[in-house]
Amino acid sequence: MASNKRTPMIAGNWKMHLTSKEAADLAAAMKKGLDPDLKHEVLLAPTFTALHAVNAVLAGSKIFLSSQDVAWEEKGAFTGAVAPSQIKDAGCTHAIIGHSERRKIFLETDEVINKKMKAAIKANIVPVLCIGETLEERESQKTYRVLETQLVGAFAGISAAEAAKVVIAYEPVWAIGTGKTATPDQAQDAHTFVRKQMERIYGKGYADAVRILYGGSVKAENIDELMAQPDIDGALVGGESLKADKFLRVIHFQAALSR
Ligand code: 13P
Repeated sequence: MASNKRTPMIAGNWKMHLTSKEAADLAAAMKKGLDPDLKHEVLLAPTFTALHAVNAVLAGSKIFLSSQDVAWEEKGAFTGAVAPSQIKDAGCTHAIIGHSERRKIFLETDEVINKKMKAAIKANIVPVLCIGETLEERESQKTYRVLETQLVGAFAGISAAEAAKVVIAYEPVWAIGTGKTATPDQAQDAHTFVRKQMERIYGKGYADAVRILYGGSVKAENIDELMAQPDIDGALVGGESLKADKFLRVIHFQAALSR
């Protein structure tokens, strides 16, 4: 059982689902079902067009709002992009950056992700940086190398002070949307490696404090055993976060009592 002082975070990534009205309704159900004494952080990441509506619903709650991406420029001719100041204007305090779907489908490189990290930090937005290996990379024993490359790339030129608020999400690509969750041991092993890399980059104090979330087929049924791992500080949840009752169960994971 974890004996650390890191505040757990449970985040819901709603990906390209839900209209504004549907997202607002789901956010209202989350707000209503949340234990008022909950000590850990809860984050919702609706699609851009639903941010305003969800922000209005979340007023007066402790739930944080996140975008699923952010541009690295502040303004200008960047058709289709949304600036840090614009997501802040919509109520966001956090931005998911470098999700594997952005990397794979939208061809985002570590260099682009690094620029987005810097832009978010400059705008005082908390980056939720996603990293993770594909099945092919895992099977060819490249997991550690991939994670190291992604971390070094994402944090290039960012000082320890600037990196202080960053949250890291380890999401093995083979576990996303597949129903194949990493076993608690597999996840713990990767999280230990990520923490060691962060120690190498920024020192032990930083590594002890940085939160590392697990993502990939997190469900009401497996959250407790995942959260029982000492280096798993929370979860980034896709499909299961679209169902209010299930996601509320994930948020109120049982290991919370012992943390
Ligand atoms: P699933 O929980 O649907 O596997 O998605 C995980 C994810 O990609 C969260 O960002």
